[in-house]
Amino acid sequence: TLPSHVRIVEVGPRDGLQNEKTIIPAATKIALIDRLSRTGLRSIEATSFVSPKWIPQLADAAEVFAGIDRRPGIRYPVLVPNEKGYDRAREVGADEVAVFTAASEAFNQRNINASIDASIERFVPVLERAAADGVQVRGYVSTVLGCPYQGEVPVADVVRVARRLYELGCYEISLGDTIGIGTPAKARAMLHAVAAEVPIEALAVHFHDTRGQALANILACLEEGVAVVDSAVSGTGGCPYANGATGNVASEDVVYMLEGLGITTGIDLDLLIDTGLWLSRQLQRETSSKVARASRPD
Ligand code: HMG
Ligand code: MG
Repeated sequence: TLPSHVRIVEVGPRDGLQNEKTIIPAATKIALIDRLSRTGLRSIEATSFVSPKWIPQLADAAEVFAGIDRRPGIRYPVLVPNEKGYDRAREVGADEVAVFTAASEAFNQRNINASIDASIERFVPVLERAAADGVQVRGYVSTVLGCPYQGEVPVADVVRVARRLYELGCYEISLGDTIGIGTPAKARAMLHAVAAEVPIEALAVHFHDTRGQALANILACLEEGVAVVDSAVSGTGGCPYANGATGNVASEDVVYMLEGLGITTGIDLDLLIDTGLWLSRQLQRETSSKVARASRPD
């Protein structure tokens, strides 16, 4: 049965922008987050405290995070790959972070220059410090339905990594189809296997729409009981270290589908559409949200 309420984790300011070639002014990123904060979203991933050499677009993470108007009741997680990232995030007052690794060794090497186990070892001190500091930690597992370098990814590897992150104290594990390669039955089977080891309430799904399968995959996962969905306004995004990765599923399209299913999100779809169209003007690019396109007068 479908959940009655879904929490959307808006990843546009982070996943959506990290792969943009032209550097976007910090003021634009701040304005995006502040606009998103007025839509009813409860989780907005704001930026990444990763190496600026690896992700130049988010080198302004501290400026952006310090500049946003943080509203009560909204979580603003930020990505951190290691303790250095955690220190930088804490300096500007972040109270939720996200650690990230993968189910595929080949992808993880390219993305964070470490084996899966070595990356998890780096998270241990981050999670210990977070627990002591009262900071909540989200965990990501990438390449859960396939890897651009390794190809097939055994479900057992996804289960192992997700379970490890959960045992280490991540309150929620987001399962990422980094290159948008999955299809519904496969997505559902993967989620089912992970949910045998990690409570479904602690799982989220994160689909890129590379092959147009994201909404179908989300629906299959909702039927399996997941109630947290990652998406990016205007359908921006992709990981620069995953060949062939394109945009995240558009938040507007997810909210539209959920509303149609009678599932509440607490989000004002019109405000979300406005925000996505505003962003596409800033990026000088057509929105990838079909719902936003349909809403616009010619
Ligand atoms: P490395 O080169 O192996 O690390 O990178 P290092 O420890 O040798 O450090 C190299 C340099 O980076 C040093 O500076 C460090 O101080 C600095 P130097 O001495 O050369 O001047 N450094 C940092 N600077 C700022 N903040 C930090 C930091 N850490 C080190 N936190 C590292 C390893 C993990 C740092 C690097 O590989 C990295 O930053 N990778 C990030 C890649 C990334 O952000 N990818 C996209 C996000 S993941 C994603 O999109 C998938 C997801 O959406 C889910 C899905 O779709 O599947 C989440
Ligand atoms: Mg992603």
